[in-house]
Amino acid sequence: MLEIADLSVRYGKHTALDGINATVGAGEMVAILGANGAGKSSLLGAVGGRVKPASGTIRYKGADLLALPQHQLVEEGIALVPEGRGIFPAMSVEDNLSLGALPRRAQAGAAQRRDEVFALFPKLAQRRAQVAGTMSGGEQQMVAIGRALMSAPDLLLLDEPSLGLAPIVAQELFAALGRIRAGGLTVMIVEQNAAATLALADRAYLLEAGRIIGAGPAAQLRNDPAVAAAFLGGAPAA
Ligand SMILES: Nc1ncnc2c1ncn2[C@@H]1O[C@H](COP(=O)(O)OP(=O)(O)OP(=O)(O)O)[C@@H](O)[C@H]1O
Ligand SMILES: [Mg+2]
Repeated sequence: MLEIADLSVRYGKHTALDGINATVGAGEMVAILGANGAGKSSLLGAVGGRVKPASGTIRYKGADLLALPQHQLVEEGIALVPEGRGIFPAMSVEDNLSLGALPRRAQAGAAQRRDEVFALFPKLAQRRAQVAGTMSGGEQQMVAIGRALMSAPDLLLLDEPSLGLAPIVAQELFAALGRIRAGGLTVMIVEQNAAATLALADRAYLLEAGRIIGAGPAAQLRNDPAVAAAFLGGAPAA
């Protein structure tokens, strides 16, 4: 579904991504793991049309993604949940979700999709009339993911969904992501929470200072001592 080849991103003189090669197959959940500043958001932003690469190619469903204007990406089925969520804080949960269904591709079936989002995140159903800005951090993340799902995506891009959440709330969120994954949606997820993400993803890429320093099936990476030392706080996952 996604083929990233020799992708580089520069901000002025700073090289944030240097020759990235990565793929995401249809129905896969692929994780990008890395520390602060590794270039994770830059990579996701390039796929989501928010960051213009200095060089390289991105093919989506076989077509040249970088040739498409950003506003068209959502109509092509790419939904980005940015770092920091990007919900509309003054609007209700329900109105935030409705905004997600504005793309032409999402208008038919919006009511059914909303029911699916409410089934995935029951708390959003209970709080549908609440002003989104007054929700807790974890609930706001649910609103952001729910809104992205309302656009009927084929490829969901998640930038650090567990950032700033208490462990128990993050656990709930990862459980919901597991259900999204089981539904067959293709997902590219950027995370610092390596243990929880590797427990969920099919494959992962390890990003360090703008370069991929490791890649493989998530189950294999979980048991790799070098990965454990760098990303899992020392000990391999049980
Ligand atoms: N708009 C920008 N202008 C200048 N430098 C930038 C810009 N955006 C990112 N950078 C730099 O590029 C590098 C990679 O940033 P990026 O946001 O992709 O990292 P990240 O892995 O997402 O980090 P974090 O975990 O902190 O979100 C960092 O050194 C950052 O300072
Ligand atoms: Mg980031």
